[in-house]
Amino acid sequence: MYEQYWGLNEKPFQNTPDPRYLYLSGQHEEALMKLTYVIAQDLGCGMLTGVFGCGKTLIAKVILNDLGQDRVRCAFITNPCFLEPSELLRAIVRGLSPEVTLPEKKTELLADPLLEKLNNILLNNLRDGKQNVVIIDEAHTIEDMHIFEQLRLILNFQSEDRFLLSLIIMGQPELKDKVDASKPLSQRIAVRCNLEPLKEDDVTKYINHRLRIAGRKDIDTNPILSSETIKQIFKHTGGIPRRINTLLDLLLMEGFAKKVSRIEPDLINLVIKDFNFS
Ligand SMILES: Nc1ncnc2c1ncn2[C@@H]1O[C@H](COP(=O)(O)OP(=O)(O)OP(=O)(O)O)[C@@H](O)[C@H]1O
Ligand SMILES: [Mg+2]
Repeated sequence: MYEQYWGLNEKPFQNTPDPRYLYLSGQHEEALMKLTYVIAQDLGCGMLTGVFGCGKTLIAKVILNDLGQDRVRCAFITNPCFLEPSELLRAIVRGLSPEVTLPEKKTELLADPLLEKLNNILLNNLRDGKQNVVIIDEAHTIEDMHIFEQLRLILNFQSEDRFLLSLIIMGQPELKDKVDASKPLSQRIAVRCNLEPLKEDDVTKYINHRLRIAGRKDIDTNPILSSETIKQIFKHTGGIPRRINTLLDLLLMEGFAKKVSRIEPDLINLVIKDFNFS
């Protein structure tokens, strides 16, 4: 829509976890490094917490992308709050072995045989040279403590010298307390990391990075946003990437509609009012 007007090949501020757009702030780089280390070095379990919209799901996608499909089998669970412990197991089994056939009704399969099946799948994948990775996204929504217990149980899949799978648990900050309430799981978390909203100077770099990836050429010599505008964006979004994306998309659209050559603070005020951005 406005891409051509702003010298872009595509929309830069889509709210999708697209690994191409990853901006490596210090904290994103640390999280990426630590969680990759958990998987690469077979440490068992890692946990990533952070405020909503700060990049947790994106980090998970980047890790999987970097490892590559020929090196990992991954069960990516995005809605753990709707699952019972046995359904969680089924989802993990299906993720790690898409070709496996499971009985239609969960009652036809008790948890124990499923655990045995999972054990075989883990061993088969490792034999095929593929690491097993289980990622539980949105884990802060889990209310049933049995789910955490189930996660601890699957971490028990170990041979004499290694974990048979890597488990990454991700969610909003309250996840820390939930996990710590389950001591046996908490003690098994080898690495913990946390994402906070971006600082003001990172917001400038974040925006410019996304514009550059989308094809904008002359960012340093001909910036689209004045420094005062970026200050205001930081103020209105609190440095949360998802909110920055939403606001920037509206600003690029409104700037195009009004045919401005640069986005100034008055346009922010207009957009915030017109689109009820709060
Ligand atoms: N470091 C980053 N580089 C580029 N884009 C980012 C970064 N962090 C977040 N984003 C963008 O912000 C948006 C929200 O990120 P994401 O969905 O990963 O957040 P989240 O922490 O998983 O949020 P929630 O807790 O609501 O699930 C996505 O569009 C993502 O691309
Ligand atoms: Mg997420």
